[in-house]
Amino acid sequence: MPLFFNAVESAAHRLSIVPPILDYFGVLGLHALVAAARTGVFDALRERPSTGAELAATLGLDARSSDLLLRSLAGLGYLRVRRGRYRLTRASRLWFTTDSPQSLVAGLEFWERTACVIWPRLAEAVRDGVPATPFYELLEGDPELSRSFQAWTAALAGRQAPAMARAVPVPRGARRVLDVGGGHGRFSLELLRRHPRLHATVLDLPQALKATAAHPRLSVRAGSFLDGDLGGGYDIALLFNVVHGLDDAQAATLLGRVAAALNPGGTVVVGDQFGDSVMPGRASRALLGLLDLNYLVTAGGRVRGFREVSELLRAAGFHAPRHRRPLRSVPTELALASLPTHRPH
Ligand SMILES: C[S@@+](CC[C@H](N)C(=O)[O-])C[C@H]1O[C@@H](n2cnc3c(N)ncnc32)[C@H](O)[C@@H]1O
Repeated sequence: MPLFFNAVESAAHRLSIVPPILDYFGVLGLHALVAAARTGVFDALRERPSTGAELAATLGLDARSSDLLLRSLAGLGYLRVRRGRYRLTRASRLWFTTDSPQSLVAGLEFWERTACVIWPRLAEAVRDGVPATPFYELLEGDPELSRSFQAWTAALAGRQAPAMARAVPVPRGARRVLDVGGGHGRFSLELLRRHPRLHATVLDLPQALKATAAHPRLSVRAGSFLDGDLGGGYDIALLFNVVHGLDDAQAATLLGRVAAALNPGGTVVVGDQFGDSVMPGRASRALLGLLDLNYLVTAGGRVRGFREVSELLRAAGFHAPRHRRPLRSVPTELALASLPTHRPH
């Protein structure tokens, strides 16, 4: 929530004069956001700043309740109010109107379900070391949730993909890209846009591939990257936001399989959040900690540092991993590494 403490509030929290209530209310903020998006509040306010009563009449909502919702959204920093009329802030226009190119609206369903269905089982995951509700299995049986998850990851990828595509070295003779767990396919699309001779294959689970963007040089391959057929003869493999969802043994298996599917000299690009280069600041560290728990509770994975990813890459046969931070979305970084040009005998 775009909510910042003033000096008095900050002191009250630092000195424990008030309980750490934001933890409890944070989840209520998520539900307020979901309710606003679902009832069309943000889209309606983009058209016309309105009072609670006007908005209620436009959207067929209860007037008093709408006013409460609007007030609470203004308190959280999602709306501004001027002369009794509510209007969007820059953040809500950018992220929570349906037609914005960066819209996160379609992904809200995923976050609501994550908060209500998956995170309540965190204690079990911490006790057992594995997720109680394996997320990707859940998605395969739930088209609506899968669509929302892909919409969320696609929205984030849409911001990152241009910078990522500039950072990926594509040799002259390169022709084929394997986008491992590529889902929506946004990263592949951007590479294809920049390199007209490339063809990409998005490999993912069947439900996820329903969200894959269409392009004449993009094909899909359904199956598990852990034990399905990856194909072969690729020059570049993309592993974006995939390794964090795997335990160490699975990560080693996957990188070994990717190495086998690449041509000699082929390049792997791991895009992920690297725990050893997190932005300075307590809030960033706290968010990274929650992300780490999220990977545990959803998939049994975790955040790794660039050094750990490098070791996994070397063990799979890649040499000289390089670290790049080219992306606009700060937390996602790249590890690039290539295979030797001749396979060892
Ligand atoms: C966090 S999403 C990342 C999507 C995309 N690469 C990105 O960065 O936006 C992880 C992707 O891996 C896919 N995935 C998870 N387990 C898989 C498996 N065993 N085989 C194939 N794909 C899998 C998911 O369906 C999902 O599309």
